[in-house]
Amino acid sequence: MPAYNSQFDLIRQSATVAMADRILALKAGGKKVVGLQVGDPDFETPPAVMDAALKAMQSGLTHYGPSRGDPDLRAAVAQKLFRDEGVSYNPDSEILITHGGIHAYYLAMQSILNPADDVLIPDPSWATHSNMVIMLRGNVIRVPAPAGNGFVPHFDSWLKALTPKTRVIVLNYPSNPTGAYPSREYLQKLQDFAAQHHLWIVSDEVYGSLYYEAKPTSAAAIEGAKERTLLVNSLSKSYAMTGWRVGFLAAPATVIDNALKAGQNSITCVAPFIQKAAAFALTDPAIQEVTANMRAAYGRRRELVIRLSHELECEKVKVIPPQGAFYFFLDLRALKMTSIEMCEKILDEVGVGLVPGSAFGEQGEGFIRMTIAASDEEVEAGFRKIIEWAEKQS
Ligand SMILES: Cc1ncc(COP(=O)(O)O)c(C=O)c1O
Repeated sequence: MPAYNSQFDLIRQSATVAMADRILALKAGGKKVVGLQVGDPDFETPPAVMDAALKAMQSGLTHYGPSRGDPDLRAAVAQKLFRDEGVSYNPDSEILITHGGIHAYYLAMQSILNPADDVLIPDPSWATHSNMVIMLRGNVIRVPAPAGNGFVPHFDSWLKALTPKTRVIVLNYPSNPTGAYPSREYLQKLQDFAAQHHLWIVSDEVYGSLYYEAKPTSAAAIEGAKERTLLVNSLSKSYAMTGWRVGFLAAPATVIDNALKAGQNSITCVAPFIQKAAAFALTDPAIQEVTANMRAAYGRRRELVIRLSHELECEKVKVIPPQGAFYFFLDLRALKMTSIEMCEKILDEVGVGLVPGSAFGEQGEGFIRMTIAASDEEVEAGFRKIIEWAEKQS
């Protein structure tokens, strides 16, 4: 046999996908499962956005479009970044439209990373942050972001992790899986650290508009940070548009020049009619109201879980209220089981689908991720079942 790319030996199969497969098999066998494992809004894409896509298709936008992205969408992204984050981007040179946030992250990393460069990634963190670096032959250094420090790294940990080969810091706030985000002062200190050591900051802000406390600060909005920050975002989570696959990278023009080449040579362009719908979604005032209602629903479910946790008073399940995103990272370390063991037992014994915390790194061991991107009834039923199950464990 010819040789294959051995980098993939270093990547584990996604625990989320493995769990989803197991749930599908159980459902096929007739078992009822409350699915609290997904990272996908339970809301429909606003119908007016679908109409905008259809209209664009009917107007003939069914061929290749500009590889940098539709000018209307790039202008809408620049407008959004100024409106929400207070940062000015030139839509002609500093914004690239991508195939969702994951592709923006890929292009960002491809644009700046050389083989064997070290990349600092907090632990826990979404598995793709590390896997992508490995695929590109970079070297991942995990920086502990323990529960005891609000799921952000102690500042010393960044210093300890730094090597002469470190080129990049990856941030994801609000975080998947913890919902945590740090203060502006923390980000300012990190930006000073990055400047001192000539590091890029890749900031994945796909949950940036989903927050329940003071608005999180974009990494690019910190003084002096824009020139070293590669901002990744998409419409997936904030506009319930995961299946549309549309996102963007905002970064210095020199980085975008590389990312554009990487995009041209991999996807050519994002479907033009989807880009028109995305531009409409980002700018239409009525759509902003629809998305505000979605955020309010997540907020209500978050409160529901917090209230239930007080009512049910289970010492074995520690509930840390998330500051943002739509997940609870439940602390079940008291049970002294692995996360995978717990998720398998909870699924088999009480029929609730979850994601093991260890899928996000060593710091996630003993935790389970429960989504609130599900109906109020499912969230309540699922959470009650988890507590009932935990109470029965010795
Ligand atoms: C932290 C994080 N970044 C990026 C993505 C990818 O989102 P998109 O659908 O925009 O590719 C996800 C999806 O779950 C995520 O959790």
